[in-house]
Amino acid sequence: MKRLLSVGVLLSLVFGVALQATTQKELKMEAKAAIIKLGKTLKGEVAKSMKAHGPQSTAYFCYKNAKSLTKKINTSYPKGVSVKRISLKNRNKDGYPTSKDEVAMLKKLGAQVKAGKKLPKMIVEKISENYYKVYKPILVGKKCLVCHGDAKHRNKDAYKTIKEKYPNDKAIGYKVGDFRGAFVAEIRK
Ligand code: HEC
Repeated sequence: MKRLLSVGVLLSLVFGVALQATTQKELKMEAKAAIIKLGKTLKGEVAKSMKAHGPQSTAYFCYKNAKSLTKKINTSYPKGVSVKRISLKNRNKDGYPTSKDEVAMLKKLGAQVKAGKKLPKMIVEKISENYYKVYKPILVGKKCLVCHGDAKHRNKDAYKTIKEKYPNDKAIGYKVGDFRGAFVAEIRK
């Protein structure tokens, strides 16, 4: 009897762990796909517009389309999966984190970058039994300075449009390698 019981315990342990691992893996893959889709879409559209129309029109393009592009991607996913971008120094008011755990995560990642640490590619955070958030840090690249850099690196015309549309803009003064924010995919099972 004792032996049977322990086999039972062992089996449930093994399957329990295996089950958890698959869901974690699946979840990470699902989140990663959503993040990559949003990232690629926005980056691709910005690059295309920059090439065809230059910085000022592209700044306007972002103002006009970032929200609808994000929404379109979100509606292509099942209920319970969503993705967005967040930043503590935000431009878009929708870009500010909506919960304390997101603020804490951004502060933590920002401090790590300041300390010269390399950030993980993705961070999985369990919020509750069936609710996860997956973060992908966003660092500033050279191309971003046109609209997010200091006065010396920003494009004047582009920034005129940006300031007009976002009078409370905080997303400037960045240098290459700075922590800009994160993509967050939320998954509720
Ligand atoms: C042509 C101008 C332009 C360029 C280039 C640009 N951005 Fe932006 N960015 C904007 C505008 C306008 C917004 C506000 C609209 C929106 O939500 O996208 C924005 C918003 C963001 C947001 C959302 C959070 C917030 O602050 O509102 C992030 C994150 C971001 N940009 C990161 C980047 C990164 C990283 C790069 C370089 C790879 C980059 N941007 C290049 C104009 C630009």
